[in-house]
Amino acid sequence: MPVTVVVGLQWGDEGKGRIVDYLSRGADAVARFGGGANAGHTVRVGEETYKLRIVPSGVVAGVSQCIIGPGAVVSPSGLLAELATLNRCGVDTSGVWLSDLAHLIMPYHVEMDRALEKDRAEGALGTTGNGIGPAYADRVARCGMRAGDLRDLASCQAILERRKVPLQQIGISLDLNSIAMQLAALADSLLPHVCDTIALLHQTLRGGGRILAEGAQGTMLDVGLGTYPYVTSSVTVAGGASAGLGFGPKHVEHVVGVVKAYSTRVGSGPLPTELAGTEGETLRTRGAEVGVVTGRPRRCGWLDLPALKYAAQINGATHLALTKLDVLDDLERIPVCTAYRTGSPASLPFAIEAGAQPQCESLPGWNGTIGSVRTWSELPHNARSYVAYLEQYIGLPVSYISVGPERSQIIVRGGAPLVPRVAASA
Ligand code: GDP
Ligand code: IMO
Ligand code: MG
Repeated sequence: MPVTVVVGLQWGDEGKGRIVDYLSRGADAVARFGGGANAGHTVRVGEETYKLRIVPSGVVAGVSQCIIGPGAVVSPSGLLAELATLNRCGVDTSGVWLSDLAHLIMPYHVEMDRALEKDRAEGALGTTGNGIGPAYADRVARCGMRAGDLRDLASCQAILERRKVPLQQIGISLDLNSIAMQLAALADSLLPHVCDTIALLHQTLRGGGRILAEGAQGTMLDVGLGTYPYVTSSVTVAGGASAGLGFGPKHVEHVVGVVKAYSTRVGSGPLPTELAGTEGETLRTRGAEVGVVTGRPRRCGWLDLPALKYAAQINGATHLALTKLDVLDDLERIPVCTAYRTGSPASLPFAIEAGAQPQCESLPGWNGTIGSVRTWSELPHNARSYVAYLEQYIGLPVSYISVGPERSQIIVRGGAPLVPRVAASA
């Protein structure tokens, strides 16, 4: 079975881009299955830092097929700007393909997103303001525009005309001619990248190719299974890879769940282990926890194992990739949440919403620098114990341990899927 799915197991920004980049060297295609430019995936190679928003992270490693699938929502101008930036950095984008079934984010979606947030006042979700929710809402309401519609500008015009009155009713006026002209201009540049990505993917599958399905956001931000309503508007869990790309679940062999060594969240909503004072500030500073998309400081807390176990379960994770372990260097003790104080029979998101209080255990730190470690056996004893504790609690192997943002700063252990050129260490 040729598909490996990579997903975030927390509240996003776990380091998925970094892990996808590493795994890309063993892949024939990398495909984004959901979300839009609300994502910010960072890949660092040497001194160069790439911030991917909608283009699959595999593009940096030169994977020949980088697919944006039918489950994603895409701003035409945003995608073209991202491709231009990548080209300027010397990245070949000729293999970036956008599904003709993917929905387009229109300027009015961005307006709606911002207006809705304003209306929510104190209850604002803290969206990224990129029009993600309204674009998915139009998709479900069956009044959206797809990338393939750009092939026939008259059909785009008809879709826009049908949107005009409903948008007027919520105070958004559409200048149809101006949008149509903008779309015509964008279509010329975008259409060479638009194709039937389902056919492309299945061709790769038939040829025995290996596919990496790149998740965006994190499990706790999943529209149905996360901490609703403080979630994004797409399916972020591994099950979404199949529907978001157009292949059957039987093709999935591995699900790699990416886990940051502590918790972070941007935007509103509960984060049970959040640290309000200097401890949170320390994690934020050491981990450089600032949102890629909005520049907002990320809220920080200790590792939340009950939430992680829930996430591993609903994704069917087969392996874990632990990132940012180096951020915990120097800490004397490292608390981890092992249970919530709650007698509630509710599902985990409901329990969190009801104010579940974390119960923590404190593990010993390793008081040393691990950024240059490349093998399991070289890791300090207490760092190995931290990893082993996580493995035992979740019941899954930690197959990758990232000890720095740079591509080479990774420990790959035996049994890790899609291992590229570098040999596994233990
Ligand atoms: P993503 O959205 O899941 O791809 O994650 P982001 O790119 O938004 O955030 C992860 C941040 O942590 C980026 O700035 C990465 O460069 C950085 N990063 C990733 N792995 C590590 C690591 O192991 N150690 C450190 N110190 N930074 C890391
Ligand atoms: P990556 O892929 C972290 C959060 C927003 C907000 C909520 C809804 O980089 O991990 P939206 O704009 O999607 O309607 O906002 O979801 N959010 C993310 N948080 N990482 C992301 O992506 C996110 N994408 C959306 O901050 O709380
Ligand atoms: Mg991110």
